[in-house]
Amino acid sequence: MLQKTVVTDLEVSGKRVVVRVDFNVPLAGGAVADDARIRAALPTLNYLIEQGARVILLSHLGRPKGAPDPAFSLAPVAPALASLLGRPVRFVADTVGPEAQQAAATLSEGEVLLLENVRFYPGEKANDPAFARQLADLGELYVNDAFGTAHRAHASTAGIAQYLPSAAGLLMARELETLIQLFSDPARPFTAVLGGSKVSDKLGVIRKLIEVVDTLLIGGGMAFTFEAARGNATGASLLERDWVEPCRELIGRAKEHGCQLVLPTDYVIADAFAPDAVTRVVAADAIPQGWMGLDIGPETTAAYTAILGAARTVFWNGPMGVFEMPAFAAGTRGVAEAICDSEATSIIGGGDSAAALKAFGLTSGVSFISTGGGASMKLLEGAELPGVEALDNKKA
Ligand code: 3PG
Repeated sequence: MLQKTVVTDLEVSGKRVVVRVDFNVPLAGGAVADDARIRAALPTLNYLIEQGARVILLSHLGRPKGAPDPAFSLAPVAPALASLLGRPVRFVADTVGPEAQQAAATLSEGEVLLLENVRFYPGEKANDPAFARQLADLGELYVNDAFGTAHRAHASTAGIAQYLPSAAGLLMARELETLIQLFSDPARPFTAVLGGSKVSDKLGVIRKLIEVVDTLLIGGGMAFTFEAARGNATGASLLERDWVEPCRELIGRAKEHGCQLVLPTDYVIADAFAPDAVTRVVAADAIPQGWMGLDIGPETTAAYTAILGAARTVFWNGPMGVFEMPAFAAGTRGVAEAICDSEATSIIGGGDSAAALKAFGLTSGVSFISTGGGASMKLLEGAELPGVEALDNKKA
């Protein structure tokens, strides 16, 4: 159980509730291209609306440089949210200035206001107390439902909770419970699949997974640092030289913990990083100079499919190859299909794996897709999430 106050514990009726959501969604042609994160916030927003709260939404979008930038405006999110809620959403192109204050102060019960990108202010990422205070002054209560940003100690995710009674939103609570539960008593065999480009981003979570899972399947660009660790040539593949030794240690650590750490036996290699590159399938120990591995090979995909088919719990984070290019998508697609076909409880760690499932039309085939790539990794490696820690910490 979550040891924090949840929105349903608060008396929200008639109150101005500042809700931090993660509406950091992809845009295309000035419109929302993937509304999964907006949909994920609906339970909290609908609850607040039903209770007659006055809802003030804060979010970031992208990584603007602490100043207004139209490319990162949240304006396109307002109509997308309005159509999902089935009610108007007011947007003002201001966050803490007079226009925002006026809009927040004049909201009716059940009304929803979306303010402009909090990252248009340098005080957001700096977690500046004065900026956090300005955000807090917009409302009477604070709810953090932005699980995807909970690993950031920013003014709207952490600082603000010093100044208002606070609670976790329903999405935040569900994410935390699902991911914490994953390690507490998983049905076995428990298989994790890790991919993505950089092993350096994932060392913490790999260390933790080795202690908990029965089998750890490795793919993606990060596999080549493991290949170097086991003495194989990697050609022109992605390689993090400084992390070869830590990968060697992880291989040894897996043995000590009785975790089967499985590396690919073959790869799809290419003569260039391009959709129309010349490709070949080679054994893992036969990558020629000048060629780069861009996907796991068919033999590896078949082996991973068999292991996933026997699993009863699966955790997946990170694609097996450059799935955005059809020539290098088969490994990721194979793993995604195997997870969907298996009877296992399947938890997807957000980010690129969630994007891959969407691209393959497979999102409904898994048990849970986290809305936080970075946040879920941090949580699983055992790190504290500032956006969660800050809740219930209002200064007396
Ligand atoms: C994400 O997309 O991972 C979250 O919205 C956090 O975004 P950030 O990495 O820019 O802080």
